[in-house]
Amino acid sequence: MTEPADDVPDGAIEPVAAPLNLAEYEAVARARLPRMVYDYYAGAADDEVTLRLNRAAYESILLRPRVLVDVSRTDTTLALLGHRLPFPILLAPTAFQRLAHPEGELATARAARAAGTLMMMAGTLSTTTVEDTARAADGPFWFQVYVFRDRGLTAHLVERAKAAGCTALCLTVTFPVAGNRERDARNGFALPAGLDMANFRGLAQANFPGTHGSGLAAFVAQQFDPSLTWEAVEWLREISGLPVLVKGVVTPEDAVLAVEHGAAGVVISNHGGRQLDTAEPTVLALPRVADAVAGRVPVLVDGGIRRGTDVLKALALGATAVLIGRPYLWGLAAEGQPGIERVLAILRGELERAMALTGRPDLRSVSRDILSGAPPPR
Ligand SMILES: Cc1cc2nc3c(=O)[nH]c(=O)nc-3n(C[C@H](O)[C@H](O)[C@H](O)COP(=O)(O)O)c2cc1C
Repeated sequence: MTEPADDVPDGAIEPVAAPLNLAEYEAVARARLPRMVYDYYAGAADDEVTLRLNRAAYESILLRPRVLVDVSRTDTTLALLGHRLPFPILLAPTAFQRLAHPEGELATARAARAAGTLMMMAGTLSTTTVEDTARAADGPFWFQVYVFRDRGLTAHLVERAKAAGCTALCLTVTFPVAGNRERDARNGFALPAGLDMANFRGLAQANFPGTHGSGLAAFVAQQFDPSLTWEAVEWLREISGLPVLVKGVVTPEDAVLAVEHGAAGVVISNHGGRQLDTAEPTVLALPRVADAVAGRVPVLVDGGIRRGTDVLKALALGATAVLIGRPYLWGLAAEGQPGIERVLAILRGELERAMALTGRPDLRSVSRDILSGAPPPR
């Protein structure tokens, strides 16, 4: 056994080294957050099988590095729906960010701006107003919507987002009903005093209905429209005049329908395993969806991306870009805005290293033949 160092008094907490990777950020966040909040962020539906498989699927995909390629420079830039981005990693919409840190959505918007990437702002379940978050973003952002039973309320929110400068809408379609999140039911998940659904201030929708279980689940049952169909994509386009991405597509059939209904992009997502448990991991759905879309619109993917090699694998399987959810919440909880910037910088650095080590100097050169078991390039 090692003796304690002389200058560390008995029982003193040794300083924690800066997190080196996204998993270490989660460990720091977990130690800081109240149980109810950590469980809400980390948890998923039923037995959390899809949550685990989202990760395990990336780990099971192996790489075939090519060597003696000039990788003295790696270029991760890309064009996405009129934006020029320095790297293909965006911030997925996540709810109630002021549970993680007092600056909440403002810190996320500032971090996205500092890193040069796009934040997909959570429209409904946000603890900061769209106007305030847009001011912090100080540039382009995307706005995620759920369609309420009250279309007038949805339209009003979309108008506000557009007036605040949003450049695309993202319709999340994984939520006709709330997933069965047993951690939240057990914890009686609710927003603490002082936090509300800021975009609905002054309306009944600003607070959860009273319940013994998850307040969020009760809110969803009351407000979200379970009768929603593909018509909603066209409706959102018409009322906003903005491009509309559909988030939550996981089958080629639905990807084709999304394109036919005028979607400007699809986001392959199982909501981080928080809705339908045992849904297939998104990275398995990705190549089939990408083939069905056949380059007509961008294909984004999220769920379980924790390493630069995961990003590389997603790009190789046909993703235009990826999104991360929980990892930046861990950065936010650990250090506020700089924590999110650091999470993005770590992931970007890992992607660049993975590109160099597989002999792919730019995103165009990242193709399926980088993956073990993939057919050789034609
Ligand atoms: C705490 C939390 C809240 C979320 N809230 C929303 C939301 O309001 N709207 C939405 O479209 N997706 C929401 N998501 C799903 C994320 O956008 C994303 O699909 C998912 O987190 C990706 O998986 P990852 O966390 O493994 O990266 C949420 C996810 C988490 C973890």
